[in-house]
Amino acid sequence: MTLSNLNTDALRARRERLAGKLGGAPALLMAGAPRPRNYPATTYPFRASSHFLYLTGVAIPNAALLLDGAEATIFAAPHTAADELWDGPSPGPAALAEATGCAVEPLDALPARVAGLEAATLPAVDLPTRVTQKKLLGRALDALAPRDEALADAMIALRLVHDDAALAELRAAAEGTTAAHLAGMRASRPGVREHVVRAAMEHAAMERGMAMAYTPIVTVHGEVLHNNVYHHELAAGDLLLADVGAESEGGWAGDVTRTWPVSGAFSPTQRAIYDVVLASQRAAIDAVRPGVRYRDVHLAAARGLTVGLVELGILSGDVDELVADGVHALFFPHGVGHLLGLDVHDMEDLGDRAGYAPGRRRSAQFGLSYLRLDRDLVERMAVTIEPGFYQVPAILGDEARTAVAGDRLDRATLAKFADVRGIRIEDDIVVTADGADVLTAAIPKTAAAVEEACA
Ligand code: GLY
Ligand code: MN
Ligand code: MN
Repeated sequence: MTLSNLNTDALRARRERLAGKLGGAPALLMAGAPRPRNYPATTYPFRASSHFLYLTGVAIPNAALLLDGAEATIFAAPHTAADELWDGPSPGPAALAEATGCAVEPLDALPARVAGLEAATLPAVDLPTRVTQKKLLGRALDALAPRDEALADAMIALRLVHDDAALAELRAAAEGTTAAHLAGMRASRPGVREHVVRAAMEHAAMERGMAMAYTPIVTVHGEVLHNNVYHHELAAGDLLLADVGAESEGGWAGDVTRTWPVSGAFSPTQRAIYDVVLASQRAAIDAVRPGVRYRDVHLAAARGLTVGLVELGILSGDVDELVADGVHALFFPHGVGHLLGLDVHDMEDLGDRAGYAPGRRRSAQFGLSYLRLDRDLVERMAVTIEPGFYQVPAILGDEARTAVAGDRLDRATLAKFADVRGIRIEDDIVVTADGADVLTAAIPKTAAAVEEACA
C-alpha cells in the first residue's frame, strides 16, 4: 500500500457523492479477508473489495468503511509487534487518516459502533467476511434488503461514470497491458510452451509494479473461451490467443486480447478470418457514443462478423436475417464486452443489476444470453469491445444447436479454415462526448502490425 499515491480529494468527493445519493443513511463496506491457498497461513495475494477500494484507495485486510452522514471512518486492526515482525512496519492510524481523509478507529470498536445503526451493506464475496458482516449487522445477507439495494444503485451510479482519477488509473492499467502484449508477441516462437509467453507477459506488468487483473488466458486453443492451462507447445501453424490485462497499482483493470501467428505470419485462411474479426471489432467501436444501447454495439459486431463470413462463403443468405436468427453465435457465442473499472467485469459482484439497465433482462437467445452489459452508453463509461470467431466442437458438432443455420452454413467451405481454432480481438474503450477513446490503441492490431511485432 503506497499512501503517498492516493488522490485524497477524489476519494473524498466519491464518498460525499455516495452519502448524498444515500441521503446520509449509514452504509458499511467491508474490505474482505485474505484467502487461504493451502492452509490459513499461506494466502493468495490480498485484493480488497472494489467498493472499499473505490472509496478509500487502500487495501487493508479485514478492514471496514462506515459511512454515516458526512462521517467516514475506516475500522482497521492495529498492527501488533508480531505483525511488525512478520510483515514489517505499516503506516499508523494518523498517516492512514491523512492519506484517505477518513477517521481511523480500531477494528474492535466496530461492533458497538454499528449496533442498532441499521446500516446498508453490499455482501462480501468471501465467506469469512460475509459471516463477520452478518454478525455485525445482525441479519442475513442472502438477498439484498431495500436499503442495500439503494446502496448498490448508488455505487453503480458512481462507478459507471469514471472520474478523472479513475480514468488516470485505467490509462495506467492500459499502459501495463500494452507492455505485456508487446512482450508476449516477442516471446512467441515455435517450440516454446504457452507458459513461456505467459511469463513474458506477466513479467512486463510485474516490473511496472502491476499485478494481473484476472487469470491470464494464453493459449493455442483459443476456442476454449476461458482456457487456463498453459502446457501446450506452440507450433509454427498455430495462432496464439492472449487475453491478458494488467491491474494498476491502485487496483484498476486492463483487459485486452490479441491473437497472433506463432510463426510470425498468418496463413491466408487465418488472415482472412482475422480480417473479418477486425472488421467486426471496428464496426462495434464505430457504433460507440453516448446514448447508444450497448446491445446494439454487440449487434453491430455480430453484423460485421456475419458480413465477412458471407463474403468468405462460410455462411449464405440475408445478413440481417442471419443475425436476427443468431446464426453468427455459432462462431461468436459470447457478448461483445462488459463494463471495465476496478473489476475486469466491473461490479459483476452485483450481478446484472450493474450491467443491465432497469427493466432490461438477458435475452434467452443463444449468444445474446451471454451479453453482460445492456445499458445506454454514457460519457466516461469504460467498456471492452471483444468480438471473436471460434470453432468450438461442442457447438459446431451439436446438430440441435446448428439447426438454426439450416443450409446457410457451408461446412465444406468452413473446413478450409481448419487452422483457425479461435481468434478474439479486445480493446478497452472510454465513451467520449462524441465517440470512443481506445485506451489500448498502442497494441498492434492490424494483421500487418501484429506480424511486425511478432517478428
Ligand atoms: N478477460 C475476460 C474477458 O475478456 O471478459
Ligand atoms: Mn479479456
Ligand atoms: Mn473482456
